Amino acid sequence: MANHEKVIELVQLTDPHLYADTSAGLYGVNSFECFKAVVDEAAKRPVDLALLTGDLVHDESEQGYKNLRDALQPLKAPMHLIPGNHDDFGFMQAEFKSGIMSCDKRVVLGNWQIILLNSQLPGQVRGHLDEKELRWLEQCLSSTVVPHTVVFLHHNPVPIGCKWLDPLGLDNADKLFELIAANSHVKALVWGHVHQEFAEVRAGVQLLSTPSTCIQFKPRVDDFELDYMPPGFRWFRLHENGDLETGVKRLANVPEGLDPDAEGYGV
Ligand SMILES: [Fe+2]
Repeated sequence: MANHEKVIELVQLTDPHLYADTSAGLYGVNSFECFKAVVDEAAKRPVDLALLTGDLVHDESEQGYKNLRDALQPLKAPMHLIPGNHDDFGFMQAEFKSGIMSCDKRVVLGNWQIILLNSQLPGQVRGHLDEKELRWLEQCLSSTVVPHTVVFLHHNPVPIGCKWLDPLGLDNADKLFELIAANSHVKALVWGHVHQEFAEVRAGVQLLSTPSTCIQFKPRVDDFELDYMPPGFRWFRLHENGDLETGVKRLANVPEGLDPDAEGYGV
């Protein structure tokens, strides 16, 4: 390894489920306060770029995105945002037009290309990559002049072993995997949506999901069940030679007020 290697530091924060009302939340948990606590934890790291991978605002409110902007202030880094099934992409794009926080979906940093995909299918919980998105991805992958790529999206492109949740993932993941298989420079595929950690390596590609910054779903169960795990985020260290280090960092405690009998939402 070179002595003066510049390692690129990323953080991924996902599924904050904010509301216009900053006292609101899910299952008794205040999603705004919870998100701020996770942002503070992430801000302790060196951060070159932050990725926010959907379900940013739960009630599709314009104010929710303003609350998101406020909560993100401690992260002094460029941030790129993609929508999840719960977002209003119009409000989101209006709030994050340009500058340090944007909905731009391609970033090049050093030897790495970071691609974000919009898998939102309006009106549906499941995800889909339309023809335009797939063509754009193909172009990004084939035209890159840097040697390594990582791809982020909201929906899970593989089953994660939760019977109730797996049908609500990406419904045309085969097309995504065809493109990835044809481009060996893709080192990792990363998502949110499932509110739990998942990590596998298939055909040399790291497949990774990340806990929500709010409430967690229990892994490997047939029916919906909350998991009493603290919220968190995922960090990445991207090396010049293509090595990708990653891990999940959780807060020390389960959020205050978590109550499985409180009002929830499924997914
Ligand atoms: Fe979510």
